[in-house]
Amino acid sequence: MAKEMTSLKFSSPLFLLQAFFPELRHVFSKFEIRPFPSDAIDFFMDITKTAIQNRKDNKMTRPDFLQLMINNYKGESVGDIQNGTIEEYKQRGITETEILANSLIFFLDGYDTTAAGLIFSIYRLAVHQDYQERLFQEINIEIGKDSPRYEQILKLQYLDMFFCEVMRMYPPSTRTNRKTMKSVTVNGYRIPDGVEVTVPIYAMHYDSELWPEPETFDPERFSAVNKECRSPYSYMPFGHGPRNCIGMRLANLETKMAMVRILQHFRLKPTPDTKIPIELDNTSGGILRPRNPVYVIIEHR
Ligand code: HEM
Repeated sequence: MAKEMTSLKFSSPLFLLQAFFPELRHVFSKFEIRPFPSDAIDFFMDITKTAIQNRKDNKMTRPDFLQLMINNYKGESVGDIQNGTIEEYKQRGITETEILANSLIFFLDGYDTTAAGLIFSIYRLAVHQDYQERLFQEINIEIGKDSPRYEQILKLQYLDMFFCEVMRMYPPSTRTNRKTMKSVTVNGYRIPDGVEVTVPIYAMHYDSELWPEPETFDPERFSAVNKECRSPYSYMPFGHGPRNCIGMRLANLETKMAMVRILQHFRLKPTPDTKIPIELDNTSGGILRPRNPVYVIIEHR
């Protein structure tokens, strides 16, 4: 179902219509027209409804995001607010539709993005034996063959530089959106109130004014010195600001943990079937992935 959900083509007429004419979304929703596959949406909605009901029936609470939302549910009767103040939203609480929509975002944003990041990392490890060796040495000194602990993962600086460069060249989320609450002027461009603005993450990561030779994979771009010379807004695989990716730390940790576990025991090498350079596909579900399966040789160290 997750695959079906993210298989939405950006070229789908329904998707394009609601992207370019956001007002149409109200019409679509009135007539229950959805650009996403209905059976997949219903599947994820049902899972969430069951999880909520389960907690209620068993008087169970958990220290998680779903619980935060359940605790802020104050009934549906308070009605909808358009562009309200934070105080108004706090008073109203969260509606059931919002709980379900947020849960859906967790499923969609959480899995395929991280999986894509790991696939691109594996590809880059296989094609750069020198970087791979340097990472292995770093892991060997800091962790050896033990199970990595959270604090140890945070100490692996070269791994961080390597993964940042993977996320620059292959940002799984290629774009993000903001809607202006009031008219604003940015770099001389006036953006009127209520306009949806797309931030082209992928394009910015390949802007040669910000990233010299952008097609070259080079983890040194993320050394402490080099990072200081750049605006933090030139790099945004997880977005920026108060609505940036809520799962950023988890995604970083998961992927680094997986890479450490792989490198502790195995060496990755390209095969004659490894497509170099890798071909990209960003037509489905808005998530950047390899167009074809990525083949690598896995050898015991
Ligand atoms: C490599 C992995 C990931 C990438 C590249 C990624 C990227 C992004 C980006 C670009 C945004 C938009 C941020 C903005 O507009 O400023 C976003 C939002 C979000 N992400 Fe992630 N994400 C990843 C993993 C995850 C994981 C693991 C979770 C959940 C456990 C997650 C949950 C979310 C949620 C809930 C939002 C919406 C936040 C909001 O609107 O306030 N993401 N992500």
